[in-house]
Amino acid sequence: MKPNEVDFDNLTFSFTETKSMYVAKCKQNSEWESGEIVPFGNLSLSPAATVLNYGQGLFEGMKAYRWENGKIAMFRPERNARRAAKSCNRLSMPEIPEELFLDAVKKVVRDNSDYIPSTTQGALYVRPIIFGSGEGVGVAPSTEYMFIVYVSPVGPYFKGKLKPIKLVVTNDYHRAPLKGTGGVKAIGNYVPGMLPSGLAKKDGYAEVIYLDAAEEKYIEEVGAANFFAVKGKNLITPELTGSILPGVTRESVIKLARDKMGMEVEERRISVEEALEADEVFCAGTAAIVAPIGSINYKGEDLTFCDGEIGEVTNELYNYLTGIQFGKSKDDFGWMTEI
Ligand code: PLP
Ligand code: COI
Repeated sequence: MKPNEVDFDNLTFSFTETKSMYVAKCKQNSEWESGEIVPFGNLSLSPAATVLNYGQGLFEGMKAYRWENGKIAMFRPERNARRAAKSCNRLSMPEIPEELFLDAVKKVVRDNSDYIPSTTQGALYVRPIIFGSGEGVGVAPSTEYMFIVYVSPVGPYFKGKLKPIKLVVTNDYHRAPLKGTGGVKAIGNYVPGMLPSGLAKKDGYAEVIYLDAAEEKYIEEVGAANFFAVKGKNLITPELTGSILPGVTRESVIKLARDKMGMEVEERRISVEEALEADEVFCAGTAAIVAPIGSINYKGEDLTFCDGEIGEVTNELYNYLTGIQFGKSKDDFGWMTEI
């Protein structure tokens, strides 16, 4: 799609094809070759590729923002580069060097800069993927890998900016076990969530809240975002046990709450019962940003936190974070990278 054909004023969190993408390759037991920018288009893959047969792959997600002064900037892309390298390791893929990852991301954003929405319209979602492209029928790592970065202009992940979302706790499905792959961005972590999420949406909920797989007592995550509860001056978020994805937004929210708002942040297990007694609850992620949770359904009962009025802490954290991301507030922590 040409940039002038994009309906920038009505963007949702969905895919819009842009001009180009970045492609790099790597053979097993060797180094990643530096890749190149090519026109966006389909790939040719063997039906025996390990990504198609065994799900050997990962993705990352970050955003590029167009500031009102015309500059383009990304939020902490080096954190995503580091997480991608960790995910490669867990998924038996050759580790992507941080510099290669960042260089690729910057090149794609620059080459597709006409697709970056304005501050009021949204952001350019940047999606790096790494996967086994070589053939393999035995369950073993691929002989060849591809690293691709593509982009898409996006609007809000949850309908309505800062509109409180309705969530439901699932007792029927778990997202990830301890010692599994929940702590990395394995592509295989996401398809099992489509069924519970789809069922929840049919019932009018925006997403599900997953509980821990061992005791089914403690909150893990909200679909593809990290969970937070506010109790007075304390901010509580589930500790990173291995089954929870270490979100870049999570880490940033913790820092803002501690250093800018003087809150006491507790990274620890939080039971549903305790969360239901919180003053405010919200979830956070690249796509979700900071999303206020209006109500939580647990075992058939809806508990309402806020109807229309957003909690003070949630609101302040949203403003701090988006202020930095959109270049409106001082970037005291050096989080933004100009492209
Ligand atoms: N949890 C899961 C399962 C996710 O997929 C994501 C999104 O990447 C997050 C949390 C939030 O992470 P981040 O803030 O790095 O986007
Ligand atoms: C992100 O926030 O970048 C995510 O990865 C969520 C995604 C699964 C839509």
